[in-house]
Amino acid sequence: MSAILEKGPVHQFDSAAIRQQFPILAQKVHDRPLVFLDSAASAQKPNAVIDCMADTMRTQYANIHRGLHWMSERTTEAYEGVRDQVAAFLNAPSREEIVFTRNSTEAINLVAYSFGALLKPGQAVVISEMEHHANLVPWQMLRDRAGIELRIAPITDEGDLDLDALQDILSDGQVALVAITHMSNVLGSVTPARQIADMAHAAGAQVLFDGSQFVVHRKTDVQALGADFYTFTGHKLYGPTGIGILWARKALLDAMPPFMGGGDMISTVTFERSTWAHVPHKFEAGTPAIIEAIGLGAAISWVEKVGMEAVTAHEAALTSYALTRLANVPGLKVIGAPKDRGGVISFTMDDVHPHDIATLLDRNGVAVRAGHHCAEPLMRRLGLTATARASFGIYTVQEEIDVLADTLVRIRNFFV
Ligand code: ALA
Repeated sequence: MSAILEKGPVHQFDSAAIRQQFPILAQKVHDRPLVFLDSAASAQKPNAVIDCMADTMRTQYANIHRGLHWMSERTTEAYEGVRDQVAAFLNAPSREEIVFTRNSTEAINLVAYSFGALLKPGQAVVISEMEHHANLVPWQMLRDRAGIELRIAPITDEGDLDLDALQDILSDGQVALVAITHMSNVLGSVTPARQIADMAHAAGAQVLFDGSQFVVHRKTDVQALGADFYTFTGHKLYGPTGIGILWARKALLDAMPPFMGGGDMISTVTFERSTWAHVPHKFEAGTPAIIEAIGLGAAISWVEKVGMEAVTAHEAALTSYALTRLANVPGLKVIGAPKDRGGVISFTMDDVHPHDIATLLDRNGVAVRAGHHCAEPLMRRLGLTATARASFGIYTVQEEIDVLADTLVRIRNFFV
């Protein structure tokens, strides 16, 4: 792989050294080198994360917040240390604003349940046409449970949020929350978060960004974005599954009732009543995902060592190279042309079903996702039932884009 470092636009980035840290990438699939272009679904894990989690289980593991013994105290320190790391990663004003969840889906459900409990019938929540089901279904559930109106902000044909339409939707002052993706998992569209936050605040609404896709690719600063809530998940950020993050302004977390009851989230308990622990513990009932949180800390350290600016530049170069190569595949149509696109490209190819595209790519060692990508209403908006989707990560190299494009040409020739 290292030869390509000298010829392409990604020559500044030592991809060979990066790839060596992901043992899974050295494997063959169907007798072909694995070309993993499905990082938007879940990213592969570097040795730093794998080793950290295994070492923690081997040498430094006990339940946290409960033990007076050495092992529990050390594990608590490691777990709580990750809260500091995540706060710094997001430039959050306070570590108390970092809530560990299972994933971004759980973080959004927490907000829908707990912030939703503060809303009054007739108030509205706004989402967009390009939301993942994780940022859609919880709001439908809130609507049906609490008489909250759910409003849908349209997107343009290019796949950008229609800001004029959003302005209209906000104009009656009834909107309590605007909940929007920071980067679409289907179109790769990066939304103008600061502008959306300013518009929401001017209308008296709070704003939540689903950062599941965005945080992997670009530096995230919740203060600069003007966010009120921000969510992301560990497994797309080269960390483990089972760990996600909700960041929220402390005043909001203080005002919100707990999401789940149980151990660790209480201050006192009697048979008559219970009182709650301070935030963030009020929202962390039960033994949490200790190993996974520590693994997320290792993932963040690893990504920060590579450098988010370098990651962003590498992926921007790859995405632009991929768009050029895919434009020359006969019959291939890239879906959407957003003003700002991250490393996610959805496409169709003549009448070849996306599932067939994905299956035939797989037989050539190339892993992509195909289907509705947990965004059925967006598919309907686009007049499609499914797309194939290639997505890039820190370890993706130009040579893999070439394999994708060349294999797609062969697949197309097979069908035509
Ligand atoms: N949200 C993940 C995806 O877009 C699973 O593939």
